[in-house]
Amino acid sequence: MSNAFGLEGKVVLVTGVGSQIGIGRSIARTLAREGAIIAANDVIHDDLAMTVAELEGLGAEVSSHLADVSDRHAVRAMVASVERLHGRVDVLVNNAGIAKRAPFVEMTEEQWRRTLDINLGGCFNVSQAVAPIMMRHGHGRIVSLSSLMGSPWGWDEHVHYNAAKSGIEGLTRGLAMELGPHGITANAVAPGFIWTAQSTAVGDSLGPAGLEIAKDFIPVRRIGDPQEVADVVLFLASELGRYVTGQTLLVDGGITLGDLRKAFEPLTGSFR
Ligand SMILES: NC(=O)c1ccc[n+]([C@@H]2O[C@H](COP(=O)([O-])OP(=O)(O)OC[C@H]3O[C@@H](n4cnc5c(N)ncnc54)[C@H](O)[C@@H]3O)[C@@H](O)[C@H]2O)c1
Repeated sequence: MSNAFGLEGKVVLVTGVGSQIGIGRSIARTLAREGAIIAANDVIHDDLAMTVAELEGLGAEVSSHLADVSDRHAVRAMVASVERLHGRVDVLVNNAGIAKRAPFVEMTEEQWRRTLDINLGGCFNVSQAVAPIMMRHGHGRIVSLSSLMGSPWGWDEHVHYNAAKSGIEGLTRGLAMELGPHGITANAVAPGFIWTAQSTAVGDSLGPAGLEIAKDFIPVRRIGDPQEVADVVLFLASELGRYVTGQTLLVDGGITLGDLRKAFEPLTGSFR
């Protein structure tokens, strides 16, 4: 632990840390290694308990907060308990999210709402509960997980996810404006294809076979690791990122550069 990031003793609330190979757990682990106190959230009890045990094993100070981020009442209670236990919240990482496949014309209102409520509503709920605490201390960092699907890309049979992630990027810009004068930055991180439970879920996302195919269209020729997203979150959450606000940083191995070389392979000569 170096304290180069200025995170030692800082209180960090991370949502959606339960998934064993998830981005949230990786973020919590990365910030804990920098000496941060982790307030860990998830909606699945056993998964949350496993992450908390892992962080404690690293010697981190950790508290456990079981709550559904789409439930405003539960979120208020969670943030109050974080403040009671640790006295403040220095960093919020809005990571909890879902991506469920649903063809547009068949999408039920319930499916639409659930995806909006967890992905975008969760960011709203937790950020709104945490902001007054950060404002009282004159300092804070909010980092929210958007996606490749937040602005540059569209995703068929996932319009609710597209809409929610785009909303997170707008929310981030608005928060950066309104909270900036209080010493608070707000940014989003937009991962490309990262190897997690979400992306490997056959049916709802690409699945392992789809990820294998996607590699050929990514300039760095591999799927991302959750740690590679966590490292960018670490930068934005730390002192190093203090003059960055209102931005969305893509962490996508360059997939948005439009690398179609694999598709063009059958062509020869001047066509390439
Ligand atoms: N994996 C990728 O390729 C990818 C790409 C772009 C964006 N993202 C985003 O990154 C974030 C993390 O994704 P991941 O791939 O690690 O997903 P994941 O499914 O592996 O983990 C998500 C975690 O959020 C938790 N969660 C779900 N609903 C919740 C709720 N209502 N309240 C609290 N916790 C809840 C889950 O239990 C789980 O632990 C998400 O916001 C996701 O949309 C992921």
